[in-house]
Amino acid sequence: MSKILVTGGAGFIGANFVHYWRGEYPADVLVVLDALTYAGNPASLEAVKEQAGFHFVHGNILDQALVEGLLREHEIDTIVHFAAESHVDRSIHGPDAFIETNIVGTHSMLKAAREVWLAGSGREHRFHHVSTDEVYGSLGPADPPFTETTAYAPNSPYSASKASSDHLVRSYHHTYGLQVSTSNCSNNYGPYQFPEKLIPLIIVNILAGKPLPVYGDGQNIRDWLYVDDHCRGIDLILKKGEVGGVYNIGGNNEWTNIDIVKLVCALMDECFARDEALNVRFPAAPEVVGRQAESLITYVKDRPGHDRRYAIDAAKCRAELGYVPRESFATGIRKTIAWMLENESWWRAVMDGSYRNWLDSHYGRMRRG
Ligand code: NAD
Ligand code: TYD
Repeated sequence: MSKILVTGGAGFIGANFVHYWRGEYPADVLVVLDALTYAGNPASLEAVKEQAGFHFVHGNILDQALVEGLLREHEIDTIVHFAAESHVDRSIHGPDAFIETNIVGTHSMLKAAREVWLAGSGREHRFHHVSTDEVYGSLGPADPPFTETTAYAPNSPYSASKASSDHLVRSYHHTYGLQVSTSNCSNNYGPYQFPEKLIPLIIVNILAGKPLPVYGDGQNIRDWLYVDDHCRGIDLILKKGEVGGVYNIGGNNEWTNIDIVKLVCALMDECFARDEALNVRFPAAPEVVGRQAESLITYVKDRPGHDRRYAIDAAKCRAELGYVPRESFATGIRKTIAWMLENESWWRAVMDGSYRNWLDSHYGRMRRG
């Protein structure tokens, strides 16, 4: 049985990881540590919050004493470190929080792990650091995909902060012998994703009849992976990955942004054609007045420093761990749209901030992003 500390477990991928892990390993203990910034939502953990072996702690990864206390109290043997500021556009407008959480916060986590696991208990342990393909920078159209040995070339404050944290994790292994692993994953999509990221943003904007902003010429390419397949990749790394190892996780699924937006538009039109109740629920949607969702596409000013193309070569994960994504894009994107239509109250609450009243009554007022 494992006892796992999941940082950032109320965020998009962290919450999916909690659900994945409860399903696969119900006897394990999971302790979620999350500061509940704008991106963290305890409602994403509603289904597990009363389960035996699940604990939620509202706190900051920068609080080293708190983290050390949790590692000791719950006899944690594994950390899966998701907590981060994660949105590139926010990092452009306000990089400080990215430096604080992603670099200083990760360092604080490493110090706590070293203190408890190396200086203290001496137990077998694993510190798994969840990172991104964005650390490798931008590819040209004919470049081969990123491998684990591609040189780092981060271009945004977000990717630079993640790159720094990756280096710190590596250094704690080489210098102190901390048992670490790192995964660099491509763009995720799926349930519980905050609607500031491309796919959920397009879905909610169609439902509200709002413009669908496409940055620049819409030809930037991302490599999309269903979030459960990311969680499965982390699972394999924890179980079979080499200590000190770095693994790229991806789905071999490159799309230009404009093609993704058009695909989501077409699938939303299908949903409205199939289900008349949507016309009543979402009266501002273009389909209600006989227009196609694509009519909302609006090209807007490009993101500064916008990386042109990301693509992951997941051959190492496949060869060493037997990793193969299970979800196809055709099914994953449909599942995601269905989830958004079934969970309107979730995304309305995170967008209008109304769940904060609930948060304040449950957790008191704390610093939140
Ligand atoms: P997210 O923004 O949805 O969630 C981040 C979570 O971390 C939130 O719950 C937030 O409250 C929490 N958090 C932020 N600062 C904290 C702090 N100081 N202390 C404690 N908790 C804090 O992010 P996500 O999309 O779920 O990404 C999770 C991780 O995966 C990040 O490290 C990100 O870099 C990485 N990643 C994301 C993607 C993607 O496509 N979303 C792809 C590859 C890697
Ligand atoms: P995003 O979901 O923010 O992820 P990342 O920047 O980490 O890849 O954006 C995915 C792609 O979509 C990226 O190339 C920027 C683009 N994009 C838009 O064109 N319009 C939008 O409104 C957003 C949020 C993103």
